[in-house]
Amino acid sequence: MSASPLHICILGATGQVGAELVRQIHQHDIGSTIIGLANSTGFFAADGLDIDSMQNIDREAFAAARPYQSYEEIFDAMAAVDPETVFVDASADRSARMLDMHLACVERGFRMVTANKNPLSLFDAESFNVLSRARHQYTYNTTVMAGAGAVPYLQDARDIADPIESIEGCFSGTLGFIASAMDAGMLLSAAVQTAKQKGFTEPHPWDDLNGLDVARKLLILIRSAGYSFSLADIQVEPFIPPEFGAVQDNEAFMASLADADAAMSARITQAKKDGCVLRYIASMKKTEDAIQAEVRLRAVPVQSTWGQLAGSANMVSIVSRDRAPAGTPHSITAKGAGVAKTAASLRSDMILFHK
Ligand SMILES: NC(=O)c1ccc[n+]([C@@H]2O[C@H](COP(=O)([O-])OP(=O)(O)OC[C@H]3O[C@@H](n4cnc5c(N)ncnc54)[C@H](OP(=O)(O)O)[C@@H]3O)[C@@H](O)[C@H]2O)c1
Repeated sequence: MSASPLHICILGATGQVGAELVRQIHQHDIGSTIIGLANSTGFFAADGLDIDSMQNIDREAFAAARPYQSYEEIFDAMAAVDPETVFVDASADRSARMLDMHLACVERGFRMVTANKNPLSLFDAESFNVLSRARHQYTYNTTVMAGAGAVPYLQDARDIADPIESIEGCFSGTLGFIASAMDAGMLLSAAVQTAKQKGFTEPHPWDDLNGLDVARKLLILIRSAGYSFSLADIQVEPFIPPEFGAVQDNEAFMASLADADAAMSARITQAKKDGCVLRYIASMKKTEDAIQAEVRLRAVPVQSTWGQLAGSANMVSIVSRDRAPAGTPHSITAKGAGVAKTAASLRSDMILFHK
């Protein structure tokens, strides 16, 4: 590891990923020191507290944190220790304020790694480009397939002018798990219930089933390849019909899923007759004058690579003009993300900053 240690400030330190990252840095890292921890309302800086002793930081401990109104206050505190502090966004903040934070971070000469895909996928392509092109300062490999390498492969393609012709992927471990459970004969409603009980779903499973998280990941990949694209350009067909999304109450939503069982079972039966299984696939294809992108549940041959993808595994298959021509796509398969893997991926992204 490098002689110059990385100084790290973690946003989202009271969350699942943030707290796990603190633990992993304490356990494994030799070349990094945590100098700041923040949640949505307060922060600790190394000069104020012994952060190294705060391995089990929780919301209660944050009652003693320094409140902040603007990220500039955190920037100033970190810059006093190291003007090249590495900020980690381990929050799930969806606000434009967090995008501004990322942009300001880069502008001020800090470095940043993010697990939060919202600033990269909910806003304009111009802001995305500013961040994505600052590769020596800003990495977001963790946002898609927990650091399996799809993002840097596409950034490389953009930077060497090797146009991407298509991207296909299964990017949701949760939906992969549900599809595989249905392959094994489980009803949709039971498969979602099992995924929820195992802690694989978002608190409200519609947030997985609506397909928007998958669409956001596809958008990040399309933009990484250098194309100016937005979420509205992606056709998204939810895993189950959109009307289910109107059921806000969690218990009522879970109960309502039985109403989708018959239609889903009919689809599965037909797919089986055709030698197929159902997979929730995100895809982008470049034609001569346009880019088409969609996310939907598709019947794919059992023997295809998509049909063979089982459980929560993720996969991406990329075709480009020079490095990965049709017939020999660049494919990456990876275990679905969880808290530990996401935190490890953030640490792996940080390694890039060791000088
Ligand atoms: N959990 C997973 O398995 C997993 C897998 C892959 C990717 N991710 C991604 O990792 C990120 C974190 O996930 P999580 O499950 O750890 O979420 P979480 O448990 O809900 O934690 C979110 C954290 O962010 C903090 N926070 C919210 N707004 C903030 C802001 N404006 N500035 C600083 N901190 C802020 C929260 O603090 P307070 O609410 O206490 O203020 C909390 O500490 C998300 O973007 C998620 O998509 C998670």
